[in-house]
Amino acid sequence: MFTIDQHLRPFPRLHNSLLPTPVHRIDYLSDEYGINVYCKRDDLTGFGFGGNKTRKLDFLLPDALNQGCDTLIAVGANQSNFCRVAASYGVAGNMEVHLVLGGKEPANPTGNLRLDHLLGITCHHVDSSDWDNWTCEAEKLEERLTSQGRKVYRMPVGGSTPRGALGYVNAFSEIMTDQLRLGVEFDAVIHASSSAGTQAGLVVGQAISGWRGKIIGISVAKPRAALQEDVLDLARTTAAEIDASVEPSGVVVDDSYIGKGYAVKTTGCREAVELFARRLGIFLDYVYTGKAAAALIDYLRKGRFDKGANVLFIHTGGNIELFE
Ligand SMILES: Cc1ncc(COP(=O)(O)O)c(C=O)c1O
Repeated sequence: MFTIDQHLRPFPRLHNSLLPTPVHRIDYLSDEYGINVYCKRDDLTGFGFGGNKTRKLDFLLPDALNQGCDTLIAVGANQSNFCRVAASYGVAGNMEVHLVLGGKEPANPTGNLRLDHLLGITCHHVDSSDWDNWTCEAEKLEERLTSQGRKVYRMPVGGSTPRGALGYVNAFSEIMTDQLRLGVEFDAVIHASSSAGTQAGLVVGQAISGWRGKIIGISVAKPRAALQEDVLDLARTTAAEIDASVEPSGVVVDDSYIGKGYAVKTTGCREAVELFARRLGIFLDYVYTGKAAAALIDYLRKGRFDKGANVLFIHTGGNIELFE
């Protein structure tokens, strides 16, 4: 068991304390396949409409405030979950917030973009789907704001820096406590993986805890080797911040559920989103958690977990996408 050092104490989300997210057994899947499937509800992280980005911002925002920054720049697509949560934290921290958003400015904002507008922050749209172009715009914006006397904290796509990944090192510690509370030992943890921060944090958490199960990152965009490399690089730099070390064998990525590409719906993803909604009352999304749940269901059908195994699916949020 471990805790994050006092000086890395996260931002108090609800201005009181950080609450652990619920974990419950999904009886519908467990009973059908003879596997105990649990769901950790990180869609209910309790700030800025929740999701995995909340955990990253818990560490990024205090870092920004500790450095005396008064301005936050976040980068992502028009419908970025990270940008919505970053903007929520920024305004709660009394900062000026600028979002650099990939995609044309729509006439009628929906989903996350609608929430960004509600927060009253400034959006800068870049008509491109290339992450490098967004970063280039964000760098220029940072220069401009700095020359105007602002002290800027700029975060990359997904907030996947070593500091942001600490959110999931912390979440892993929470998962170890969930095990004790539930009286089970998880054999596998499965979740959607994209900009590497979530998985890197979990991998570092595992390295510290000595837990012997498997963390399976379901890629929603990148080919396996590329994402594995990103996760390992970030896990190594994150581990270095807290005097830990990670092994490449701890980084497991499955890219079989991407389909035609990022955010392109697959049959399995549609089925998973409908099953979770109609049978369980849990809303997933079609970009991230739907694909991870499609993988979970496929693994169950193909018997890829040992009978009686305990499997934890992390619902990483993103369901604002259903309102696009
Ligand atoms: C809902 C949701 N789940 C999973 C992920 C993947 O997390 P990461 O980018 O840390 O790999 C994202 C990233 O944008 C997300 O928004």
